Amino acid sequence: MERGRNNEEEKEEDVAVSAQQRGGGCNYGDALYWDARYLEEGGAAFDWYQRYAALRPFVRKFVPTSSRVLMVGCGSALMSEDMVKDGYVEIMNIDVSSIVIEMMRRKYVSVRQLKYMQMDVRDMSFFSDESFDCVIDKGTLDSLMCGPDAPLSAAQMIQEMNRQVNLILLAQSHSI
Ligand SMILES: C[S@@+](CC[C@H](N)C(=O)[O-])C[C@H]1O[C@@H](n2cnc3c(N)ncnc32)[C@H](O)[C@@H]1O
Repeated sequence: MERGRNNEEEKEEDVAVSAQQRGGGCNYGDALYWDARYLEEGGAAFDWYQRYAALRPFVRKFVPTSSRVLMVGCGSALMSEDMVKDGYVEIMNIDVSSIVIEMMRRKYVSVRQLKYMQMDVRDMSFFSDESFDCVIDKGTLDSLMCGPDAPLSAAQMIQEMNRQVNLILLAQSHSI
């Protein structure tokens, strides 16, 4: 191993090599796939499917701005930032990719309404029951549906989200 590099550089190299060894195939259900992808994109913002502006009428109708919101599989999307600009006061963002969480944490370090934590949506035992008023997912259930044990992963995700709240908003392209 080359001397003088910090832990982060070593981790980035490990992730890139691991993705290469796996043939560079597309596997949305695999955390290493997402780590490699976010490294490659270098922190560029990207919203899957729709930006907040398009979803706003629906979100504002069901989610008061005072809600404690949990955004699962946040990725590098601008959705949470746009919601804060629209008046939302508390959004906890989680993602299985430690790479994107670190990027987002740095980007929004001075935005007190936004928090970021690395976490698997299938095991959110870190949060006690009913910690949030609403869970929003845009594209994460889709990702799990592309992974191994898709029905089990989807059931675990729904069960974990149900434990948190009464209101779940899903934006997906798969039907389950
Ligand atoms: C299709 S992207 C959607 C990103 C973002 N929500 C958006 O709308 O642009 C799916 C996201 O889910 C994350 N993800 C995949 N599996 C996950 C899991 N088991 N737990 C938490 N996040 C996961 C990925 O890292 C990725 O950021």
